[in-house]
Amino acid sequence: MPIRTIIEPFRIKSVEPIHWTQRSDRQKFLEAAHFNLFLLPADNVLIDLLTDSGTGAMSIYQWGAIMEGDESYAGSRSYVRFRDSVQSIFGYTHVIPTHQGRAAERILFSTMVKKGDVVPNNTHFDTTRANVEATGAEALDLVIAEGKKPGLIHPFKGNMDVTALEETIRRVGRERIPLVMLTITNNSGGGQPVSMENARQVSELCHRNNIPLYFDACRFAENSYFIKLREAGYEDKSPKQIAQEMFALGDGCTMSAKKDGMANIGGFLCTNNDLLAQQERDLLILTEGYPTYGGLAGRDLEAIAVGLQEAVDEDYLRYRIASTAYLGNHLAEEGIPLVLPPGGHAVYLDARGFVPHIPVEQFPGVALAAELYLEGGIRSVEIGALMFGKAAKMDLVRLAIPRRTYTQSHIDYVIEVITEVWRKREEIRGLRLTYEPPFLRHFTAKLEQV
Ligand code: F0G
Repeated sequence: MPIRTIIEPFRIKSVEPIHWTQRSDRQKFLEAAHFNLFLLPADNVLIDLLTDSGTGAMSIYQWGAIMEGDESYAGSRSYVRFRDSVQSIFGYTHVIPTHQGRAAERILFSTMVKKGDVVPNNTHFDTTRANVEATGAEALDLVIAEGKKPGLIHPFKGNMDVTALEETIRRVGRERIPLVMLTITNNSGGGQPVSMENARQVSELCHRNNIPLYFDACRFAENSYFIKLREAGYEDKSPKQIAQEMFALGDGCTMSAKKDGMANIGGFLCTNNDLLAQQERDLLILTEGYPTYGGLAGRDLEAIAVGLQEAVDEDYLRYRIASTAYLGNHLAEEGIPLVLPPGGHAVYLDARGFVPHIPVEQFPGVALAAELYLEGGIRSVEIGALMFGKAAKMDLVRLAIPRRTYTQSHIDYVIEVITEVWRKREEIRGLRLTYEPPFLRHFTAKLEQV
C-alpha cells in the first residue's frame, strides 16, 4: 500500500512556549478588551489564529540569509537578490520594496487613482478598500455569485464575475476605471482561489479596454497550488510555472511578503510601466525609504528572497493546503457551518449560520470569536459587519493558520474547542458598539454584550 499520510515537511529546531489560562481569567481579559480580540495582549492567547500575516516560522535558510543582509543605504546587494527572486516568479520589470502590503497599495492608488474613479476587484481586502476609498474612488467587489454562498462547493469561488465587470466598464466608462485588481487567493471571500481561465478572461477584457490589470498577490503560491489540483491542464505544471503564467496576464501587483513571502515583515509593488514606476519611486522616497530598501532592512529583503522560493515548493504547498483542509473538513463533519471548500490559509466559520439567533446588527461574527476565546483561548478574527459595515455580504469568523507554526495536535485542540462551542451555541449573546473610530473600525472598536 502506498503511504498516504501527509506530514509537516520540516522538523522543529527552535520552540516558542505557549501558556494556558483559566476560563475565569479569560472572562476578565475579554471584558478588559471590550470583546474585541485585537485588544488582547497576545500572551493571554493560547492558539493565535488571528492572522497568517507575518506570524509564520522561518526556515534555517531564511535565518542563514538574514546574517548575510547588506544594510547599505543605496545599491544593497540584498536588494539585488530580492529583486531577482521576485522577478523569477512575478516577471515584472520594476520591483519596488515596501514595508508591507498596504504601503504598496497606498503608493499604487495614490499614483493611479483619483476622486470619482471606480476600482473593481473580486473582493477588496480591508486595507485595500480603505486605500482606494482614501483617494475618493469607489472600491467595487465583483466576485461571482457562488463566492457569496458559504456552503456552496465550487472549485474557484474567488473568480471575478466577468459579465459584471464588462457591464461596469460600459456603465462607468473605461476612463474612470484606472485599474482592475484580482486578489489571489480571495481573502475576504473565504481564502478562495481564482482560476487561470478566469484571470485570462479578466485580463483579455481589461486589455481590450486599455485598462491595466494588477494582482493583489499575497497568497499567490496557495492560489497556484489550487490551480494545479483543480484546473484541467495544470496537473503536471509546477506551482512556480503556474504563478509565472498567471502574473504574465497582468501589468503589475501589490504583495504582502508577510503571507506567501514567508517573512515576518515586508512587501513590494511591481509594474511594467516605466513612467508609473518613476512616480511610485518618488513617493516611496517620501514615505518609505530609498528604492533599494523601501522601509525594510537588508536582512528582511534576504528573508523574502529565500521565502518566496520556499512558498512555491510543492512539498510545502501539499502540506499547507492539506492541513487547512484537515481543520475545515473535521468541522464540516460535525455539521458546523463554514465556507466550503476550506480556503488556502484559513477556515472561515459562517457566523450567521452558527448563531442564527443573533441579528447582523449585533455582530454575530464578533460574538462567536469572543466565545472561541472564552472556551479555549483561541484567537480568530471577524470578517463581516464590524469589519465592512453594511458592505458585508457574510459574517465570517476566520481561523487563519500561520505558516509552518502549529502542529496537527494544536489543530485537533481547535476542532475540539469549536465543537464544544457549537454544542452550546444558543447561549452566545450579541454585542453592541460602545466606541468606533472613523475608519478601519474593527481594529480598535469597543463592544459590550446586549
Ligand atoms: N491584501 C490582502 C488580500 C491581504 O490579506 C492583506 C493583509 C493585505 C492586502 C495587506 O497587507 O498586512 O502586509 O499591509 N492581510 C492580513 C490578514 C493583515 O490578516 O489577512 P499588509
